[in-house]
Amino acid sequence: MLTAEENERLTRIGPGTPMGGLMRLYWLPFYPGGALPADGQPKRVKILGEDLVAFRDSDGRPGLIANACPHRGAPLMFGRNEECGIRCVYHGWKFDVEGNILDMPAEPEGSRLKERVKAKTYPCVERNGVLWTYMGPEDTPPPLPEIEWNLVPEENVVVTFRVQECNWLQALEGEIDSAHAPILHSRIDNKGSINDWIAANDLRRTFKIERQPFGLSIASRRKLEDDRMYWRVNQFLLPFWTLVPPQSKFPELSGHAWVPIDDEHTLCLMFSYTPKEEFYPKSRVILEEGFKGRETGHASRSCYEDKPASTPYADFWTKFNPENGYHFDYAAQESTYFSGLPGLWVQDAACQSGVMPIYDRTMENLCVSDAGVASARRLLLETLDDYHNKHEPPLGAIQPDTFMARAVSVTLPSDSDWLTACTPYMKAQLGADFGYTP
Ligand code: FES
Ligand SMILES: [Fe+2]
Repeated sequence: MLTAEENERLTRIGPGTPMGGLMRLYWLPFYPGGALPADGQPKRVKILGEDLVAFRDSDGRPGLIANACPHRGAPLMFGRNEECGIRCVYHGWKFDVEGNILDMPAEPEGSRLKERVKAKTYPCVERNGVLWTYMGPEDTPPPLPEIEWNLVPEENVVVTFRVQECNWLQALEGEIDSAHAPILHSRIDNKGSINDWIAANDLRRTFKIERQPFGLSIASRRKLEDDRMYWRVNQFLLPFWTLVPPQSKFPELSGHAWVPIDDEHTLCLMFSYTPKEEFYPKSRVILEEGFKGRETGHASRSCYEDKPASTPYADFWTKFNPENGYHFDYAAQESTYFSGLPGLWVQDAACQSGVMPIYDRTMENLCVSDAGVASARRLLLETLDDYHNKHEPPLGAIQPDTFMARAVSVTLPSDSDWLTACTPYMKAQLGADFGYTP
């Protein structure tokens, strides 16, 4: 449970807020590069509550510019993207990707206004098909963070984006809390009565939390029939990253960046990758297209729903949303899905979005399995305090290799120390395999 003040401090991310200030110290992944062709339509986006437009100029350089034109505020989302700049359709002012004014067609020849006015822009960098921006206070941004999924060859990775209608912290907490997985994501086909099903599944896991240079390791332990222990270690990387360990049948790593669009919407960037080899072609098709008409952890190509160009991230909204109950089907609870919700990410999104976009955490009652969630909140609150009151830079904001971490799933003898046994596998090494059999 949080106080109302702590809840506000953790969830609000607009300009001038403590959490917004913290997030602005990090590079933020914000758009798939392939969805922004040179001289193509500028796309309205919102990042940390700021109204922006993404475009790519004729030379292929990505730009991120304030939506409000610095002349008299016409939306640059209507802009003409041509000849190495974006031109406002109101009076024709034209800007390059750095916000410099290239043209003011209605101004007298020799006007010096061009030299005095600049559009607000943020630096953009593209790596492995994903666009990143830095919205922080430094004139010279820190290096891009090294995170394994964005460094391995592109053919090793599947990346998808979607908009979720809730605050970023609800989405983040949903993936830190791994206790939900064997319940929310389960199927009950042919499993007898629901009480038999619950009895047959070991749902009471033991959790261990460890602070790390990147954030937190959240380990859960399950006892196997032969008395050995199955450990799964999820990672939380500041400020909004989660890493999920491989399943034995699908030896791939995955995770999310939960990038705040505004206080009530989150850009969910999901990545799945294989560290050493090309991503399994059949798995790629399943993740990109869904499995037998259902959503997997990734948003499938067919799940998107058209929105007007004026909607931020118009191309990444889905047909599963709070208004339609995420296609909840009560009858399916009898026959297939424990939850009656169709598909993996849909189940997560439905529960994370919950009953309000910013959940009132003064109303909750945390339990043993919320150890990871509680620790992540404590870490975030301490980080806010350290940065804003003691002027200490947060973990990983300036050291690019801090985030070279991996999630882990291993089976260990019952008397093994999980941290000692798992630590060697938690370090990501480019081109190296897991180092164990998932
Ligand atoms: S408002 Fe954009 S050029 Fe006038
Ligand atoms: Fe989940």
